[in-house]
Amino acid sequence: MRLANKVALISGAAQGLGAAMAFRFAEEGAIVFIGDLKADIGNQAVGEIHKKGGKAFFVALDVTSEQSWINALAAVVKETGRLDILVNNAGINIREPIEEMKAENFDAMLAVNVKGPFLGIKHAIPLLRKGGGGSIINMSSVCGLIGHAFTPEAYTVTKGAVTLLTKTIAVRYAKDNIRCNSIHPSTVETELVAERLKDPRFRAERLGEVPLGRLATAADVANAALFLVSDEAAFLNGVALPVDGGATAD
Ligand SMILES: NC(=O)c1ccc[n+]([C@@H]2O[C@H](COP(=O)([O-])OP(=O)(O)OC[C@H]3O[C@@H](n4cnc5c(N)ncnc54)[C@H](O)[C@@H]3O)[C@@H](O)[C@H]2O)c1
Repeated sequence: MRLANKVALISGAAQGLGAAMAFRFAEEGAIVFIGDLKADIGNQAVGEIHKKGGKAFFVALDVTSEQSWINALAAVVKETGRLDILVNNAGINIREPIEEMKAENFDAMLAVNVKGPFLGIKHAIPLLRKGGGGSIINMSSVCGLIGHAFTPEAYTVTKGAVTLLTKTIAVRYAKDNIRCNSIHPSTVETELVAERLKDPRFRAERLGEVPLGRLATAADVANAALFLVSDEAAFLNGVALPVDGGATAD
């Protein structure tokens, strides 16, 4: 088992990519905490992990609230006494192009996509350090690496911020044996984009930008995340890893 007895908190893990990572980490022996706003489906995901013999808990988490991070991490420590892995995965996309975007919607995206990981890292670092080190993954996007004609500017702004938050944490906390890397998926068929992918033009545009000629799967992303948090990636720090079938290589 590649993550035997490692304790992982994954934000936004009730569904989508977060849930896929939770399932994959649990298969490899991790004790997984699913942190999310959605207790109902979060607890269902926990139930599915238990059915397969894995260890998981749901913990209420609103990543935009500092107190919520403090409470969630306290719950993790109360249950297990430690934290080894933090995945900042929760993210939203309010699809308004810059000329139409309401300022309050921009603030909402910054709060979830940027302030969320910032606060999570702030409060996880002391716990990771106490345990002798650990691993942080921040979920960015291909939109955190390149300008993207089909994606609203605000999303790109937030995901670009995550890319450099990752690198600065990687540099500053390497001395504590804390690694920090980001993942940059191209379009994955999850709730976040499911509605839009019903539009054949949108689907064709998305497929057209991937040299490997298919959309990413949640499993593609979960396997990349598993590698990054495992000991096999012990010398990977500050990496911005595209999981995009070559889209950003073009
Ligand atoms: N789906 C894609 O195509 C794609 C591509 C690149 C990057 N991403 C990124 O991957 C991450 C996960 O995306 P997804 O497609 O699984 O999304 P999703 O919408 O399916 O799931 C997001 C989860 O985050 C939770 N969440 C939202 N706001 C929260 C908050 N304030 N506090 C705690 N939890 C909150 C939601 O309840 C939900 O469970 C996001 O950061 C997204 O930007 C997704």
